[in-house]
Amino acid sequence: MHHFEYKNKELYCESVPVRDIAAKVGTPFYLYSTATLNRHFRAFDEAFTMPHITCFATKACSNIAILNLFAGLGGGADIVSGGELFRALKAEVDPRKIVYSGVGKTVDEMRFGLKSGILMFNVESEQELFTLQKVAEEMNVSAPVSFRVNPDVDPKTHAYISTGLAQNKFGIPIQGALGIYTAAQKMAHIDVIGVSCHIGSQLTQISPFVESLQKVKIFIGRLEEAGIHISYLDIGGGLGIRYDAEDPPLPAAYAEAIKNEMEGLDCILILEPGRVIVGNAGILVTKVLYTKKGGKKFVIVDAGMNDLARPSLYDAYHAIRPVIDTEEGNEVVDVVGPICETGDFLARDQEVPICESGDLLAIMSSGAYGFTMSSNYNSRPRVPEILVDGDTFYVIRKRETNEDLIAGETIP
Ligand code: LLP
Repeated sequence: MHHFEYKNKELYCESVPVRDIAAKVGTPFYLYSTATLNRHFRAFDEAFTMPHITCFATKACSNIAILNLFAGLGGGADIVSGGELFRALKAEVDPRKIVYSGVGKTVDEMRFGLKSGILMFNVESEQELFTLQKVAEEMNVSAPVSFRVNPDVDPKTHAYISTGLAQNKFGIPIQGALGIYTAAQKMAHIDVIGVSCHIGSQLTQISPFVESLQKVKIFIGRLEEAGIHISYLDIGGGLGIRYDAEDPPLPAAYAEAIKNEMEGLDCILILEPGRVIVGNAGILVTKVLYTKKGGKKFVIVDAGMNDLARPSLYDAYHAIRPVIDTEEGNEVVDVVGPICETGDFLARDQEVPICESGDLLAIMSSGAYGFTMSSNYNSRPRVPEILVDGDTFYVIRKRETNEDLIAGETIP
C-alpha cells in the first residue's frame, strides 16, 4: 500500500497535490512519500521477531534524508562503496549497523570502513581477504568479516540482477568455502563473525530464498563441526514488488519462511532489503512535451533514460498514470525521452492515459533504483528529489544546474 492516491481526479502524494509540486519545482522530479517509507520499513522490520538488523540497501535509494529516516526507525545500511559509507554516516546511520558488500572493495574503501567501525565486511574472494588482512594489520585493528557464499540457486529473475548462480561474479562457491573460513581463522587481524548470501533482486517467489537458506544452514553446520562459530547470518535482500501483475510474497510470509529455516540457528539475522521498502514509495513526475505519429504513436516527455534507466536496461515495466485524470481513456503508445538513442523509452507499446502537450504523467514504482541509477548522459542535469510528509514537501536534493555539469572540468 502506498500514499499516491487520487482525490477528485487529481493525484496526491499524501495531502499534497502532485500538480502543486510540479508548479513549484518544475519537471521532471522524483517524489517520495514519508508515510509510505515509514510504513514499508516497519512492515518489513516488524515481520522479523527474532534478533535481527534491517540494513537498508543504500543503492536502491541513497538520499541522506531517506537513509536518516530509516536510521530513526532503528535501521542500518548495506553499502557497496566508500561513497555509500560516506552517505550512511552523514545520515547518522549507526556504524555498528553497517554491512559492506561487493566484489571490488579498494584499499582506501577498506580503510574507511575500518576507521568507521562498521559491523562487518562481506568478503567475496580470497584475494580480497588477504588485502583486508594487510590493511587491518597496517592500521593495527581487527577486521570483522563475513564471507559471502554463492549457493548456486536460481532466483528466477532478470538475468542482470541474478547474483546467486555459479556463473555470476558474486560470492565464494559454497562447496569450497570451508577452506577460506579456516584460513581466515588463523589470520591475526581478521575476526570471522558471519556468513552472508544474496541471490538476486526482484524475486517474486519464496522458494529460491528457502533453497539458498537450506544450503547455507548446512554450511553453517559444517563450520560448527570445524569449530567456527558464526554470530551473524546475512541473507541479503531481493524481495520483489508489484510493478504490474507480479504477485510477490508479503514481508510477513517471507519472514515466516525465514523463521522456519532459522530454527536451531544461534545467529543474529541481517537483512538487506532495498526495493521492497522504497520501490512503491516513490514516483517520477514528467511532463509531456510533444506527441507525434510515425509508424507508432509517440508521447515525448521531459524525462529520459538518464533519469530512469530501468525500462531501457531491463525492459522493466512501470505503470504510467495521469497527474490530472481527464477520463479520456487510454491508448497504446511509446513514451520516450529526449535522449538521442532509440533505447530511450520509459514505456513501449504500453497502455497509457491519452495525453497532450503540457500534461503531467506519473511514472509509478520508481522509488528503487530510479534516482540512484540516473546519470548526466546527454549533459542533462540530474532532477530534484522531493519528500512529502503530510501536507508539506521538502526538496531533499535540488535540481542540478548547467554549472554543476561542468564543475570539476578544466581546459588545459
Ligand atoms: N544486498 C546486496 C548485496 C545486493 O547486491 C542488493 C541488490 C541488495 C541487497 C538489495 O536488493 P533488493 O532488496 O533491492 O532487491 N538496478 C536493478 C537492481 C539491482 C540490485 C543489485 N543488488 C533494478 O533496477 O532492478
